[in-house]
Amino acid sequence: MAWALSRSDWRRKIRRSKPDICIVLPLSLILIVLFLFAISPSTDLLEYFLPPTKTLDRLQSAAFPCGSETAAGERFLLYAPHSGFTNQLWELKNAIVFAAILNRTLIVPPVLDHHAVILGSCPKFRVNGSSDLLSAVWDHIMDLIRDQRYISMADIVDLSSLGHMRFRMIDFRIFVSMWCGRNLSGTCFGSSCCAMSSNVESSSISSNYCKSLSFGLCENVKPCVHVVQEDCRTTVWTYQQGNDGTLDSFQPDEQMQKRKKLSYVRKRRDLYKSFGPSSDAEMVKILAFGSLFTAPYKGSELYIDIHEAPGDSRIQSLIRDLEFLPFAPEIIAAGKEFVRKKIKGPFLCAQLRLLDGKFKNHWKATFSELKKKLQSEHGGKKNNSLIHIFIMTDLPRNNWAGTYLESLVNDTKFYNVHTLHENDELVVQSAKRFRVLKNITSTHNDKLCSYVSSHDILLYIEETVCSCASMGFVGTSGSTITESILSMRKNNVCQ
Ligand SMILES: *[C@@H]1O[C@H](CO)[C@@H](O)[C@H](O)[C@H]1NC(C)=O
Ligand SMILES: *[C@@H]1O[C@H](CO)[C@@H](O)[C@H](O)[C@H]1NC(C)=O
Ligand SMILES: *[C@@H]1O[C@H](CO)[C@@H](O)[C@H](O)[C@H]1NC(C)=O
Ligand SMILES: *[C@@H]1O[C@H](CO)[C@@H](O)[C@H](O)[C@H]1NC(C)=O
Ligand SMILES: *[C@@H]1O[C@H](CO)[C@@H](O)[C@H](O)[C@H]1NC(C)=O
Ligand SMILES: *[C@@H]1O[C@H](CO)[C@@H](O)[C@H](O)[C@H]1NC(C)=O
Repeated sequence: MAWALSRSDWRRKIRRSKPDICIVLPLSLILIVLFLFAISPSTDLLEYFLPPTKTLDRLQSAAFPCGSETAAGERFLLYAPHSGFTNQLWELKNAIVFAAILNRTLIVPPVLDHHAVILGSCPKFRVNGSSDLLSAVWDHIMDLIRDQRYISMADIVDLSSLGHMRFRMIDFRIFVSMWCGRNLSGTCFGSSCCAMSSNVESSSISSNYCKSLSFGLCENVKPCVHVVQEDCRTTVWTYQQGNDGTLDSFQPDEQMQKRKKLSYVRKRRDLYKSFGPSSDAEMVKILAFGSLFTAPYKGSELYIDIHEAPGDSRIQSLIRDLEFLPFAPEIIAAGKEFVRKKIKGPFLCAQLRLLDGKFKNHWKATFSELKKKLQSEHGGKKNNSLIHIFIMTDLPRNNWAGTYLESLVNDTKFYNVHTLHENDELVVQSAKRFRVLKNITSTHNDKLCSYVSSHDILLYIEETVCSCASMGFVGTSGSTITESILSMRKNNVCQ
């Protein structure tokens, strides 16, 4: 089986003969299509691929005569997620809106590691450019594939409710195989595409070829790819607000302009006018943005100000549906199971950020809110019964010695402290169930690129548990995880 080849076998196989690649390609595509089948509500997309036996033919004949009409006339939107999961989720939502407005198929990325890609600071006008971000994302995705840690955003959040009438999406891996595979004599298939679950390291040249092909990092692919260089230093994207080209209210102050010798003037620009039918970018195959991060700042938005679209009911209802995207059903089920079987009663959840960056030096403040909450619980309870507490924190359990957390654990008369760990049977089992559900298990499972490790889903199960905490929730303020849990609680995920 191709997927069970060891790395060295794989390399040998590629060098020995090209036809082997042609056998491996449809196999891998079938697997990927199966995967897509599990995640994608878009039947159009499936029709494009199926029947699987024809995949290779289709790839060679129909796909991607770049720059002209393809069979489906399909055009794509790519972006560079950054930072932690919650940020990545916000960016995914923005990307979905962008794709819908521009009638482009969204290339859905995987979940990136927390520190893999760093945007910088929009208010300080110190951010990495789009091409740098895209390039970093590409490299990181190749690492995820090589390490078999690739897990799609669409595995974690449930996009099925969004409905394919309003926007189309494609898995990053499938896209790359199609994109790079349009010329099989290019070596791309031996490296970053075919080797989706194999080695990437030995093939930096061809991997770079593929990268530039996808991200427009080199001159000769310009007609195929447009990398949007406008970022939060210069632009706030709007839609149908009738203020295209006007100045945004937030500008770098004079001091900053002088100190940094910059002349950034932030304009509000209409997304549809800039990249829609009347623009040069309309027919470009891939429209690639850098980060799609935005946040309210000083009376404006840092990068994207599209909160409603009264003139476009399709986009308006999409925006409404995007307000809250639940986790995938498997994750919700695992969280509820833990509550039912392990906690077995009313409980309180505390989400404590203690290690990462800005949270490192604020332990006292972080603990004090929990203390306050527990005191009030005791005050309300005349009979001093046991309080169940579920704690999720980035401080590993064996580093709790001497902390407030340890004193809670010690205080067995009053508290029963619960935590989840990636090695807990429930987490391991649900990671396995994930694989079965997505049907990417089968006989060659540990060589597959889409392997969901329990480590990768722990956080989301923990968030679900916290959304079920009937006695209340205490979360470190300023943490995006806290915000995510609050939003889950508001939307009654646990009902
Ligand atoms: C959107 O794009 C698809 C092809 O991907 C095309 O068939 C459809 O007509 C387009 N819709 C609009 C409103 O332009
Ligand atoms: C972006 O900027 C940060 C500093 O703000 C830097 O550490 C990082 O390496 C840069 N590049 C990428 C691609 O993240
Ligand atoms: C494929 O790409 C190679 C170079 O990578 C080129 O020599 C060849 O002509 C291309 N084939 C087709 C069919 O475009
Ligand atoms: C203790 O008080 C709680 C309410 O604060 C109540 O739910 C529980 O049943 C009581 N337990 C006993 C043993 O009285
Ligand atoms: C918790 O109990 C252990 C063992 O009894 C003890 O060594 C430790 O100091 C206690 N920690 C706190 C914070 O009270
Ligand atoms: C996954 O594949 C197995 C057979 O390989 C099949 O029995 C099962 O129904 C499939 N599950 C789903 C969710 O498609």
